[in-house]
Amino acid sequence: MMLYQLSHVRMFPAPARPAGLVEVRVEPYRHRWCLPKRHRRRGMMAVMTVPGEPDQTLPDTSPAPRRVWVDDRLLEADEASVSAVDHGLVVGDGVFESLKVTAAGAFALGRHLARMSRSAEALGLPAPDPDRVREAADAVLADRPYELGLLRITWTGGAGPLGSQRAYGPPTLVLADTPVEPAPASTSVVTVPWTRNEHGAMTGVKTTSYAENVRALRHAYDRDATEGLFLNTVGHVCEGTGSNLFCVLDGEVVTSPLASGALAGITRELLLEWADVTERDLTLAEAQRADEVFLTSSLRDVQGVHRWDEVTFDAPGPVTRRLQQVFAERSAADPDPR
Ligand SMILES: Cc1ncc(COP(=O)(O)O)c(C=O)c1O
Repeated sequence: MMLYQLSHVRMFPAPARPAGLVEVRVEPYRHRWCLPKRHRRRGMMAVMTVPGEPDQTLPDTSPAPRRVWVDDRLLEADEASVSAVDHGLVVGDGVFESLKVTAAGAFALGRHLARMSRSAEALGLPAPDPDRVREAADAVLADRPYELGLLRITWTGGAGPLGSQRAYGPPTLVLADTPVEPAPASTSVVTVPWTRNEHGAMTGVKTTSYAENVRALRHAYDRDATEGLFLNTVGHVCEGTGSNLFCVLDGEVVTSPLASGALAGITRELLLEWADVTERDLTLAEAQRADEVFLTSSLRDVQGVHRWDEVTFDAPGPVTRRLQQVFAERSAADPDPR
């Protein structure tokens, strides 16, 4: 047997095997020299993705938006432009929101606008006028030809210097939308080798300086996972690149407190209001011993985790399924929960 690059091989306690992966048994361990030491024990099996067949749980790249709102106008996407010295582009001096769009419109727009104002204030930008953004959202989402989409609202400092000094302004407003596929009921995640600094000036603020998340998500995709999870400086589980994490331990649903450095996710916040959830710090070892693990975000809603590094879970488990249902029902009943 030939093993492909070892980085494409994952070990699971037999007989667990996530869907979409092909099992390759390492028998009778003639090749164990090429396996990491911790896997050289009976009852483990190697699985690897078949080259050329991507993991079905990995999301496709969304199509480019058709039309884009810039400042006060709706334009064809290829005609829209912002300044080449916009400070959002030059140094990431901007804030943003990503919202789920359904037949009922953009979900929880009021909460997203409130968070955007808090982010702008934290960055020292003037807050966007919520009525102006609502008007832009209505224009962008009018006549949309899809059932499920993503609306992105970006607010930057506007034209500015080529360094980190304050932007000259006025701020730039951009809204764009795109159709998306529904998230699968469960997915795979990996812990990334970089740390979330819970003491940083911009920690928990949704700024456009997301390069660290871009890098971490790439790290996850390269390992057949759809999310990369950060620990913070003291080794507590913090959050994903674009999601919050929940663990179910002996029936108790636990999520990291905001002091861990996690973003105050709107989905997280709603679940804290609609279900019995405890906020408390968890180490990686504790979290990976959970009975169930799930993620929340605007586009994942409540999504089970069936693999986290080399640990597998039966996902979505019973508690996750119940919370998926609670979230689906409550969010359908009120598309803009105050
Ligand atoms: C770093 C980070 N954490 C968590 C979340 C989840 O937040 P929400 O539920 O508001 O989508 C996001 C959303 O993109 C995020 O960027």
